[in-house]
Amino acid sequence: MKYILATTLLTIALAPCSAAFAGDAGHGQKVFQEECSDCHSVMTGKNKKGPSLFNVVGRKSATIADFNYSDAMKAKNIEWSIETIAEYIKAPKKSVPGGKMKYDGLDDAKAREDVVAFLATLK
Ligand code: HEC
Repeated sequence: MKYILATTLLTIALAPCSAAFAGDAGHGQKVFQEECSDCHSVMTGKNKKGPSLFNVVGRKSATIADFNYSDAMKAKNIEWSIETIAEYIKAPKKSVPGGKMKYDGLDDAKAREDVVAFLATLK
């Protein structure tokens, strides 16, 4: 009985934390491999068709020095966050018109949340 009560209290205490970290980084890594890894590396300094996404959360847009960004991306001038990346990958061509990320977008909101949670671990 005591054990059940303790477990219940613990669950209640932890619930708000799991709500704040809704994205599942483990699943996000799989999404990344399927959707993004053709064009993006997660290693620092390694660009493919797209710039390295190491440490991208908290980085200003278009700031990898040896990557040739589109003028549209250079003009965007924002800080990449959980929210701004999720918004971008939902519809890259709408979010950055004239940008050169040739990707139609990730329709599934949960997959977007998870992949961004994965990107946030790359530090
Ligand atoms: C077909 C290749 C391709 C795919 C697939 C792709 N990207 Fe990109 N990505 C690019 C290119 C190219 C750029 C540079 C865009 C520009 O300069 O307009 C870019 C830019 C970005 C940026 C901005 C980086 C910076 O330094 O400002 C982010 C964030 C990003 N991609 C995330 C993703 C995520 C997450 C996925 C998977 C859901 C993905 N991309 C899939 C090619 C791709």
